[in-house]
Amino acid sequence: MRFSYEIIGSIALVEIPEEFMDKKFEIAKKILETNKNVKTVFKKGKILGEERVRELEFLLGENKSETIHKEFGLRYKLDVTRVYFSPRLGYERERIMRKVKDNEKIIDMFAGVGPFSILIAKNKDVKIVAVDKNKYAYKYLKENIKINKVQEKVIAINCDVRELHLENLFNRAIMNLPLSSHEFLYKALEFIRDNSYLHVYYLDENEKKLYRFLDENIREYRIIFKRKVKSYSPRKYINVLDIYVVKK
Ligand SMILES: C[S@@+](CC[C@H](N)C(=O)[O-])C[C@H]1O[C@@H](n2cnc3c(N)ncnc32)[C@H](O)[C@@H]1O
Repeated sequence: MRFSYEIIGSIALVEIPEEFMDKKFEIAKKILETNKNVKTVFKKGKILGEERVRELEFLLGENKSETIHKEFGLRYKLDVTRVYFSPRLGYERERIMRKVKDNEKIIDMFAGVGPFSILIAKNKDVKIVAVDKNKYAYKYLKENIKINKVQEKVIAINCDVRELHLENLFNRAIMNLPLSSHEFLYKALEFIRDNSYLHVYYLDENEKKLYRFLDENIREYRIIFKRKVKSYSPRKYINVLDIYVVKK
């Protein structure tokens, strides 16, 4: 029997292939038995809409969906049925954090419960505006800012980032919305100054649109880094581009 799962705090989210669906409770029992820190097992469904919340079916254990996930010594409280969170982005969060220098002003345009912003704030002397339109993500973002004691450095805003009007203020923008980040590049350009960095997460299929936008709308830019981040579906990948915008 082949199945894969990820662990968020005390909750396991398992992907069960169609042919093993009749064994879903058996699989959940196995996961509980082999991971002593896992108290709850949910079956993964699709990730829906712009807020990227996953459909989940409770299988076994304690029937609760709120947990605290630990990453790089920080704590993130979240409800797996109400917000997006992926432990598989840990490497990326650390990679970006290491690029940041003291005194930067950063906008995290799709902040979720705060894992990029809070890790950066914990390690660097920066000011960060963290935006999310999901009211639950915002609620946990605010709580996580307090739990991790970065209130002096991170401001949380609950809105659609398209409605946020802050011009020429930031020298770095993090764009972790892979399905449609290319549609928000115009907004990132409003937010940043010349000589700034963009970190754009995107699906392979959007790469051409992304480059076209950059070529048509930025006077001078350089791609300074590119990598495949993780699989999105059997034949699709999420990638990241680090872009240095010399002149808008
Ligand atoms: C892929 S998740 C990333 C969350 C976070 N960066 C992380 O690593 O866990 C994308 C987030 O963007 C938010 N979002 C989507 N569209 C948005 C918009 N137009 N304005 C503000 N937030 C948005 C969603 O609610 C979701 O929390």
